[in-house]
Amino acid sequence: MRHGHVLLLALAVAVAIGAVMTGCGKQSASNEILIGEYGSLTGTTADFGITTKNGIDLAVEEINNAGGVLGKKIRLIIQDDRSDPAEAKTAVTKLVMQDRVAAVLGEVASTRSMAAAPVCQQAGVPMITPSSTNPAVTKRGDYIFRVCFIDDFQGTICAKFAAETLGLKRAAIIKDVKNDYSVGLAKSFTDSFSKLGGQIVGEVSYSEGDTDFSSQITAIRGTKPQIIFVPGYYQEVDLIARKARQLGIKVPLLGGDGWDSSTLIPNSGGALEGSYFSNHYDAAMGGPEVKKFIAAYRKKFGSDPNALAALGYDAMHIMARAIERAGSTDGAKIRDAIAATKNFPGITGSITIDKDRNAVKPGVILQIKGNKFQYVTTVRP
Ligand code: PHE
Repeated sequence: MRHGHVLLLALAVAVAIGAVMTGCGKQSASNEILIGEYGSLTGTTADFGITTKNGIDLAVEEINNAGGVLGKKIRLIIQDDRSDPAEAKTAVTKLVMQDRVAAVLGEVASTRSMAAAPVCQQAGVPMITPSSTNPAVTKRGDYIFRVCFIDDFQGTICAKFAAETLGLKRAAIIKDVKNDYSVGLAKSFTDSFSKLGGQIVGEVSYSEGDTDFSSQITAIRGTKPQIIFVPGYYQEVDLIARKARQLGIKVPLLGGDGWDSSTLIPNSGGALEGSYFSNHYDAAMGGPEVKKFIAAYRKKFGSDPNALAALGYDAMHIMARAIERAGSTDGAKIRDAIAATKNFPGITGSITIDKDRNAVKPGVILQIKGNKFQYVTTVRP
């Protein structure tokens, strides 16, 4: 009998604790505003996810130190999608259905943003991707935004740089067919380079995770390109570059923002020296705001911020400002406030959200020189 009472009591306590714990996670019961973030903290593109998260964390710290939003603190709830599109969808489903976040930040990779965006759209929870550049991402619906330029622009600035600045006529392309970003950027580059009088002399493919590029590079070598466009992610770009040099190709490689990782140069063993890529941000762009951001980032993380960190930081600040202006955590109101973002002074440039929920912004061209990313030029839309 007595034993039974103890058991019942234990059960009641457990239920009560359970209720309190779930209650804490709920938007309504909280004096915090919950923002979900999904990203590749592990897996093939972990560097993307980690540096983005760093930028977002820094912004949250600043926002909360300055009193928060609507009188409440921002609390980030983070989900690792392990660099996998299906996991990205699961991660966002958890954030939206279980944690009931007011809004979502993520992903970096376009393929993963596209996999998860419909979950936000259907639930009426606004999502801002800091850095997914494929045009299709924000076409997933009117709750889906980005604070970066799109690949129509990125492909064009790469093509112009090759054709006009470098004066080249023959380009080859190596693209990742499993990656929407890579396929889209290859197409945009092809369209622009052809319009500028250039010719795509060869085009070959690989799939994320491949490690042997011999046959593709051999095929490309035969087409005698003056430059090779490689719109992929860093972990394959270094292998492609090494193989190209090994097989005697001396021309520069050219790529997009997917090259941005501090591991790229060390892993390429010098094979990328002289090559170029387009990106969203460089420290050299900066005025006083950028210098302040770099100093704060260094202090917190002990390294220099890349473009991903800067975009994550900008995305979080834009989100916080939008919630403040919305005056509530209602999804539709936050959506309208994000859509109305104009001339936001971001680290990655002035950010205005256009009618297609994209940001119209300048890009930069960088060169790998002396084992460093060196600023070459800024290109305005
Ligand atoms: N733009 C890439 C994509 O859409 C992601 C990326 C952005 C990678 C910035 C590196 C730096 O997939």
